[in-house]
Order: sequence, then structure tokens, then C-alpha cells
Amino acid sequence: MGPHRLPRTVVPTRYDLRLAPDLATARFTGEETVAVTVHEPAGEIVLNAAELRIDRAALALEDGTTLEGSAALDGPAERCRVSFGRPVPAGRHRLRLAFEGALNDKLRGFYRSSYRGEGGQAHWLAATQFEATDARRAFPCWDEPSFKAVFACTLVVDPALTVLSNTSVAEEARDGDRKAVRFADTIPLPTYLIAFVVGNLESSAPVAVGKTPVRVWCVPGKRRLAEFGRDVAAFSLGFFEDYFGHPYPGDKLDLVAIPDFASGAMENFGLITFRETALLVDPAAATHAEQERVADVVAHENAHLWFGDVVTMSWWNGLWLKEAFATFMEMLAVDAWKPHWQRWTTFGVSRAAALLVDGLHSTRPVEFPVRAPGDAEAMFDVLTYEKGCCVLRMLEQHVGADLFRAGAHHYLERHAYGNADTGDLWAALGEASGLPIPRIMDGWIFQPGYPLLSVEREEDRLVVRQQRFTYLPSPPDGTEAAPVPWRVPVRVRSFGRDSRLSAELLDAEELRIALPPGTEAVLVNEGGHGFYRAHYAPDLLAALLDRLPVLTAIERFDLVGDCWALVLGGKMRLADYLDLTARFRGERDKNVWSLLAGSLHTLNRIIEDADRPGLAALVRDRAGPAAADLGWSARPGDDELTRQLRGDLLRLVGTLGEGAEAQRKAAEAYADPGADASVLAAAVGVLAHAGDDARYAEFEARFRSARTPQEEQRYLLALAGFRPPHLVDRTLARTLGGDVRTQDAPFVVRTLLMSPHGRGRAWAFVRANWDRMSQEYPVPGFRRMGEGLTGLATPALEREVQDFVRQRGVDLGGKTLAQYLEQLRIVVSLRQREGPALKAACAPPHT
Ligand code: BES
Ligand code: ZN
Repeated sequence: MGPHRLPRTVVPTRYDLRLAPDLATARFTGEETVAVTVHEPAGEIVLNAAELRIDRAALALEDGTTLEGSAALDGPAERCRVSFGRPVPAGRHRLRLAFEGALNDKLRGFYRSSYRGEGGQAHWLAATQFEATDARRAFPCWDEPSFKAVFACTLVVDPALTVLSNTSVAEEARDGDRKAVRFADTIPLPTYLIAFVVGNLESSAPVAVGKTPVRVWCVPGKRRLAEFGRDVAAFSLGFFEDYFGHPYPGDKLDLVAIPDFASGAMENFGLITFRETALLVDPAAATHAEQERVADVVAHENAHLWFGDVVTMSWWNGLWLKEAFATFMEMLAVDAWKPHWQRWTTFGVSRAAALLVDGLHSTRPVEFPVRAPGDAEAMFDVLTYEKGCCVLRMLEQHVGADLFRAGAHHYLERHAYGNADTGDLWAALGEASGLPIPRIMDGWIFQPGYPLLSVEREEDRLVVRQQRFTYLPSPPDGTEAAPVPWRVPVRVRSFGRDSRLSAELLDAEELRIALPPGTEAVLVNEGGHGFYRAHYAPDLLAALLDRLPVLTAIERFDLVGDCWALVLGGKMRLADYLDLTARFRGERDKNVWSLLAGSLHTLNRIIEDADRPGLAALVRDRAGPAAADLGWSARPGDDELTRQLRGDLLRLVGTLGEGAEAQRKAAEAYADPGADASVLAAAVGVLAHAGDDARYAEFEARFRSARTPQEEQRYLLALAGFRPPHLVDRTLARTLGGDVRTQDAPFVVRTLLMSPHGRGRAWAFVRANWDRMSQEYPVPGFRRMGEGLTGLATPALEREVQDFVRQRGVDLGGKTLAQYLEQLRIVVSLRQREGPALKAACAPPHT
């Protein structure tokens, strides 16, 4: 089992837990009685604890005798061993522990968050974040997902404060000058889903979904921002009850916005916690992307109430079972809530992110061994979430939506209130569909990577061959195992005299498909649900590019994405890709544009400074027509996606494209109180890009006085867009010492590392402050900051990064660092390979 797994000889069934936090002194005391089943006589009881002091331990045996115990903490193992002077007999006993600890400022375990009131005074709030392995910082426990137990929690707090936990209040009593609030028993839950929030909170009016009251909570003054989140919460809760055919088993559902929060949100049963930007929003002042974010996060966490909370993965290697499924359900729910948002098309952006990381040699299978806590944290990545969701979507499309849903229902019913593994999901889906699910799916979940389908035509037949796609050539040492062929659902549309759709499962190296007579072009991955890339022979690519208007947005998206990946992988020439982008001047889908913009930003990171004006001209040439067509301000009747696209184009042309008119218009929009939110958000970015000291001071003041979380974030990230070196330094200085919240600071640093104007100084700053940052920033934020290393795309900076991480023995958990370094290697080799072609395309400047 290894040093990080607890023995299963002693198993908890119920915790009666009492915690008394003191916000002013940032300390808490606690007592617990844990009902345990001892399966065989044990020399001692071993459980998890970290950063706690254990003051007393006793064991009440089922025969009525009580044994006094002593607890020894093992810091590095995050465990405590309780011994009683004699072996513990088998049976059902009660373990009593008294302990104390600190409310920390690391946004994990039981921690303290702060905010300023309307009058500027500072206030405290206490909250918890236990996933993956931090419940042990709040109370001694069996901190592994398969030790599910019933929790009966009591919190002893200042009577003026609100206290929330997983269930509703069962009883409230005075306790000296404090109040003791006892919450109703929970369903059996793993420790990582337990939560408490204590503070001066206000809530929206509850809405009832069936029998469940749903409320949104926030710090005082923000209630007007709670309605949108509550609406999507109520909708998605009902949607999931219906989809799963299993009512939500909690007695209430609270969603709370916490001013300091490490990740985006956390699905504690009955008490979901969020960072403010992921829950509170003013739909009239927010962009489409900002509203979509709230809808996504709320729907995702609600989906976990079933996938994760009712049925829990047995161990962290199976994290995808809940995270991929919640991501998938999030898409279904948001798509049902706002069909005109076309959520599954926008999901292409997530698929592209997964295809990027999964094209690395340093990728990993979706299901992957986990031992230490750091490895569990590292599982929360694009492979678990986005790749996992992609392969679920591919499977759903393959078996059919109804049978897939029936399989999900079986799985839930069979494992409700327990734990499950991937094999259990396969079994349920297999029974529902009658298909050999493991045969189809194992390659996608248990082996790394995905296939590149090369597509050629041999007269009246299409020949499709699969091989693993990677950007960099395989290591010559043969360390990489050859993949077993993936079972690839291939949907081919042929264009010509008869258009035809054929759906087949490619389950060998090669597939031959007869084409109808008169076929002029073919598209593989029709509908865009497949998790693979296509590499068309030149004649087939040319024929497809002639038919862009008849492809759907997601199909055009995949076409651009696959071609760009082939450029990064050295299988297509950059010059050809730049020609291809010229075919997209008429493109009006925001996702396709975000992909095009992303590739242009990457080129901006590898281009020589002298050639930058030429790249700017190229950007104006490509994006200018669409920007001009949409205009600079919203028009009545524009849908939300058009508004978002207008903002995105304005930002692209005004920053990377250095468009003088866009920059002028940005200043106008910024001064216009009636400007559309998407235009305004883009204008802020454009003005920062062109901004001086006075603008910087103004944006800083706007950041501090922002009226919504989104506005605050917009102005904060805009500070990283100012280019004068002394302003870059000023922004960097804000990222340490608590001036900017530690939940946000890593993202500011990351933005600077990714920018050509800021990266040199940001890298020097990060190097000098690495240890301090790793202590100050919450773990997920610090890891995300590291992603900025992929922007240091010059050979000299790359060498410095490699030397630094080697000398310092940097470890970001799992394969995270190796993935960042490989991404950096890919862009630096692109620079070395295609530098001359890029120069030729960008100098002399276009006019
Ligand atoms: N279970 C996670 C929260 C989490 C993330 C815990 C990382 C521990 C480490 C939650 O359900 C989640 O996935 N949150 C996402 C947002 C979601 C919409 C993808 C997040 O926090 O980014
Ligand atoms: Zn999740």
C-alpha cells in the first residue's frame, strides 16, 4: 500500500465533530468522537493529521471500558498514530480526540479569508478547502476517498456570525458567550467533501428545486450579483435530477462566494464554495465569456453532487470519473440552459487544450497512478478534465445519447453512497449499450496520447491510417512503448455529386472507405466529436479549403487546429499555414478566431523584435475585414456570440495588430458609459497595451474600486499588459506581500511571463523570488504560474529555465513541469525551424 495509504484494519463509520474557530486570533480548537470498526486486533490506530496539535486521545471500547491513549504525529507522513498501552481488540469502538490548530492563510484546510466592508474596514471569514488531502489540517481523520462516513458537525462561533456546513441546522444553543450550531447528519461522505464557512454573510432569497432550497451566499454588499448564479444553479440541479433519474439527496444546497479561494470552486456536498468570479456576476456588465464561466462552474459543481459525492472514486487515480463526468454534464446542462450559446462548439477550445498537452511525450494516461498528496493535486489537469470529457463525449455520440444516459443511471444506482472504479463505469455502460466498452475505451483512458489520422485518396477509396501524434520526434532510446491502435469512431462526410456520411470504427492501423462516385472532397471527424487529429493529403486539404462555407464552425475549428498542430510538429510548413489563415478573412465564429489568434500570439513569442511590425501588419490583414464588418460598437439585434467576437477582434487588432484605429476606438468606448461589455473589456486590454503611467494609475484605481469581481479581474490583468519596463516592474512588485490577493497574483505573473514585453523581467523576478512565491501562493495557483514558463520562447531563456529547474530540483507535482518544458521546447524548435520563413512573411512590412 505504501507510506501514503492508511491500513484498512480500522475503518471510521461516523464522526461527531465539534470545532470552535476564533477569527480574531486565527486559531481553532476541536473535539471529535469517531465511531470505528476494528476488523482485527490492532497495535495502534493510524489516521491522518497535519499541522495539528493533539491534546488528548481516548478509546471507548464496545465493552464499556475506556483506554487512555497517546498520539504521536509524523509530520512528513501527515499521520498520527494513537496507542493505548495495549492492543485494540476487534469490535466497534469510539475514538475520542481533542486537538487544536491555526486558521492558516494558505487557502487550504481550515483557513482565513479577508475582505473590506463598505466603509473600508477589514473583516475576517473562515472557510475550508479539503480536496484533495487537506481535511487532515482541520481534524484528524481517515483522509482518503474510500473511507466514507456519516458526519455530524457542530460549530461553536460568535453569535453575530453566520455558519454554514453541508446540511441544515439541526439545533442551535448558547455556549458561554458563543453559539453552538449543530448540523444534521450527512449522507456517507469522504472527508474531502466536508466544509464549513463562518462569517458575516448575506444570501439571496432561496428558490426551491423540488424539495431543495437553493441559496447563494456572499459577503455583505454583493447580493445584487447573486441572481444569475442562483438561476443556473436552480436550472442545473433540476436538469441533473431529471438526467440521472435520481433526486438530489441533500436537505438544502448553498453556494458560497469566498473572497480568497485557491481553485475555481469546490463541490462540498450541500455547501459548494466558489471564488467570487465564478459565482457572482452582473449579467448587464459582464462579457459573454464571463457569464459562461459562471454558468460552467455552477453546473459543473452541481453535477458533482452525483458524480463525486453520491458515487465517489475509490482513489485519486480514478479522479477522471468525477471530473471528466462533471465537465461533460456541465456542457449538457449549459447547452440545455442557453442553446444559443452553442456550448458544444465552444467546447472545441477545451478539446484543443487537451490535444495540446496529450501530444507531448510527457503526457500521461487519463487514469494514472497516484501515491503522494502532490501527485493527487497534479491530477487536476487538462487530461483529467478536458481529455476525459472529450472521450466521454465521443463515446456518447458513438453509443447514442439515450443509451449513454441509461448507463450513467445504472452506475449511479448501483454505487450510490459508495465508491467505484473505471471498470464499474464500463460495466454499467456496457450493460446499457450492449457494446464492448472496455475494448473501445481502454486505449483512450489507460494509454497516453491520441492518434493522428493520415487521410489519402486512392481513386474511389479513402485510406485512413492511424499513428500516435506527437509534436517532437520520439526519443531514440526506445523508452516509449508503441501504442496499441485506438478504436476510433470515424465519421466521414464526402462532398460531390452525392454527399454521404459514413460512420465506422477504425480499430486497426488502417481503414479503407469506398467513396461515392463523383466525390470531390472529404471530411473526417464530421461533427468534431472525435479526440484525434487529421492530416489530409495536399489535394484533399485544398479541396476542403474550397468548401469552408459548407463546413460547420466546429469542423472549421478542427481544420485550423490540426493544421497549426502539424506546423508545430514540423509536418506542415509555416508558410502554408499563413496562406491558409488568409482563407479565414470571412470567418465569423469566435472559437475559430480564438484559435487563429492563439497561433498568431505564439508567432509573436518567437519573432525577432525587428520583424514585429510585419507580424502586426499580417494580423491586421487577416482580422481587419471581420473587425470592420462587425464595427466598433454593438448593434441592436447582435447575439451574445457576435458581441463576444467583436470584443475579441478589437482586442486582437488593437494589441497584436497595433491597429491605430482600434486603439482610438478603444479610448472612445472606454469613455462611453453605455459601451457594450465585450467592447469595454477589450478596450481595457487595448488601452493597457498602449498605455503610459497616467493610464496605469487610473486602471489601478479602477481595480481597487471595482464594482464586480469580473471588473476587478479585468483591471488587474490589464496591469500586466502595460509595456514600459518600469510599469512591468511595478506590476511584478504587486504580486508579492499580499498587495494583490494570493488567489490572483500567480495569474498576473503568468500573463507577464507569456508576453514578449514582460517575460524577460518577469522571469528574472520569478527566479529571484521562486521560494517565496511557492510559500505565499496557493498550490494550484503556483502550478498555473509555472505554465508561464512556456512563454519564454527564446533559446537563451529556455536554457536558463532548464538550468534553473535542474539546479533547484523544481517539482510541480506529477508530470506538470516536464509538460511545461516540453511545450517550451516545441515553440523554441519552431523558432529555429521556421524563423526564416516567419521573417520572410513579416518583413518587409505589409501595407
Ligand atoms: N473538485 C474541483 C475543485 C478542486 C480543484 C479541488 C483542484 C482540488 C484541486 C472542482 O470540481 C473543479 O473542478 N473546479 C474547477 C472548475 C470547473 C468548472 C472545471 C476549478 O476549480 O478550476
Ligand atoms: Zn470538478
